[in-house]
Amino acid sequence: MQIKTLEEYKTAYQKSVDAPEDFWAEIASEFLWTKKWDKVLDWNFTGPKINWFINGKLNITENCIDRHLEKNGNNTAFIWEPNEPGDKNRTITYKELSEEVNRLANVLKSFNIKKGDRVCIYMPMIPEAVYAMLACARVGAIHSVVFGGFSAQSIQDRINDSQCKVVLTSDGAYRGNKQLPMKVTVDDAVKNCPSITNVLVYKRTGEKVNMQSGRDFDWETECKKQSVDCKAEIMDSEDPLFILYTSGSTGKPKGVVHSCGGFMVYTAYSFQNVFQYQPHELYWCTADVGWITGHSYITYGPLLSGATSIIFEGVPNYPDSGRFWQVVDKHNVNIFYTAPTAIRALEAAGLDFVKPYKLDSLRVLGSVGEPINEEAWQWYHKNIGKEKCPIVDTWWQTETGGILISPLANITALKPGFATLPLPGVQPILVDEKGKEILGNGVEGNLCIKFPWPSIIRTTYGDHERCRTTYFATYPNLYFTGDGCRRDEDGYYRITGRVDDVINVSGHRIGTAEVESAINEQVDVVESAVVGYPHDIKGQGLYAFCIVPKTTKTNEQIKKEINDCVNKIIGAIAKPDKIQIVSGLPKTRSGKIMRRILRKVAEGELTNLGDTSTLLDPSVVEEIIKGRV
Ligand code: WT7
Repeated sequence: MQIKTLEEYKTAYQKSVDAPEDFWAEIASEFLWTKKWDKVLDWNFTGPKINWFINGKLNITENCIDRHLEKNGNNTAFIWEPNEPGDKNRTITYKELSEEVNRLANVLKSFNIKKGDRVCIYMPMIPEAVYAMLACARVGAIHSVVFGGFSAQSIQDRINDSQCKVVLTSDGAYRGNKQLPMKVTVDDAVKNCPSITNVLVYKRTGEKVNMQSGRDFDWETECKKQSVDCKAEIMDSEDPLFILYTSGSTGKPKGVVHSCGGFMVYTAYSFQNVFQYQPHELYWCTADVGWITGHSYITYGPLLSGATSIIFEGVPNYPDSGRFWQVVDKHNVNIFYTAPTAIRALEAAGLDFVKPYKLDSLRVLGSVGEPINEEAWQWYHKNIGKEKCPIVDTWWQTETGGILISPLANITALKPGFATLPLPGVQPILVDEKGKEILGNGVEGNLCIKFPWPSIIRTTYGDHERCRTTYFATYPNLYFTGDGCRRDEDGYYRITGRVDDVINVSGHRIGTAEVESAINEQVDVVESAVVGYPHDIKGQGLYAFCIVPKTTKTNEQIKKEINDCVNKIIGAIAKPDKIQIVSGLPKTRSGKIMRRILRKVAEGELTNLGDTSTLLDPSVVEEIIKGRV
């Protein structure tokens, strides 16, 4: 399944377009199936209804684990690097992984978890987080991982939306110089989650936590009671593997659903091809398992490929901004995959944090989550990659399950800022506002995909219509990504950013509507509008305009309360970077907020605000400009 040359890439790409079913059947044949599929693909984008490897039966964990045991059971699956550089590493072989996952799977069974049940995972970056995902998959349960930085309210909303029965968590978590109270947060969340029957708690920090008798159990104690064998549940290729919530331009986060067969085939294929992983190499993806990058390229893709990876508990700037590079040298990392926001932050910290390290084990660098600006690309290439490591700028989304547009390391010629070319099986097209295809090169438009790939989103949990309207209704018969994109003279793709009301802050996807509704919970705020603006480190920052009519509080007090509200309702990642108190918002006569104007103000583009003649009250614009923060 690994492409080795540009010629092979071109041949594979052509085949994937001319004969997609034959193309994917050949790749899927390399996996372990309990029963092979009857038909490769059945699809339409109107339903949408997308089925891959129809009637195929499998369990993804047999492919991630069992398949490797006979020959490579003693190979290392994970090296865990803790938050404190001085603390001991943990090394987990595939055989140990098998035992840990099976024990935990048996614990889930003891909680009466069955195929199709939903399990929430709220964990720090420790190997147990990966065991948790795999244990769910082993028994056929659908995992819903919630990023450890989200608030109790966010956990609660997600648990209730998909009616999870069990939560897997820890007492606390270490993150840089912070200690986070995970169990306290879970306790707070599940107060209003009647579907929860059990909470399993891993001791990470040893802090004292409340254990509700009959509901809460200690992870290690329970695992010790269980056998290291657990028969894998036989799953249909289209059975859901997991739900992962993600923000969009409207309403509450949606539960993106991925299915077993297609997700397996595509994450392994894309992992091996994009990074050109070679046996015995050490791969490190710095993402958190709470995001899709962690699902596809910490847990599933690498394990399906029998790879050895690092799981890192800490953050890039603790104890100092050299931590990533210290870890690279310590373990001799060959492939390093991170986000532009981290690169920009480390660049800003200065080269003194890079100089002490050799970094000579590195062979491939990766970037994900947001557009990488040319300056950051060059810094990464020169100072980390020593001008010899390719940078794979990987474009994809929670909904795509895997990388869709990216260079293949050492195969595709690079261009800074370009995700370059689609992977085999991926058919991008650019369309104008009306949905008309924009042909040729040297053009720009909205990025859509016109043919399904195996790990495309299947539905949004509990609301298929929302899946249809969000992704498949904007342009008929196309999957709409929400991104703007340029295709240059060489046919290379450059993602220019979201064209909807989604803001990408430090590679985290944040919906403006969600932040606005959290801000509006502050008692003095009657209305708000949030827009993005360019931010040196975060890529985009959040600028909130808030209407506060009359109050005895100071602006500072109100701003603090707004921040607290957002922190409590969503989590720290969604706190606005700037808050401006205003008396009105620029609205059209029909009452629609003209975000275009607010974006310009937030960007500091004050001279060319465009047409403001349709505004109900043009004077608010002057006031807003004067009060800019
Ligand atoms: C959005 C998806 C993919 C895993 C992490 C984010 C932006 C992602 C790139 C890239 C430019 C990128 C897009 C996309 N994005 N990768 N290489 N270049 N933009 O997943 O939270 O679902 O966000 O992130 O805007 O739509 P996500």
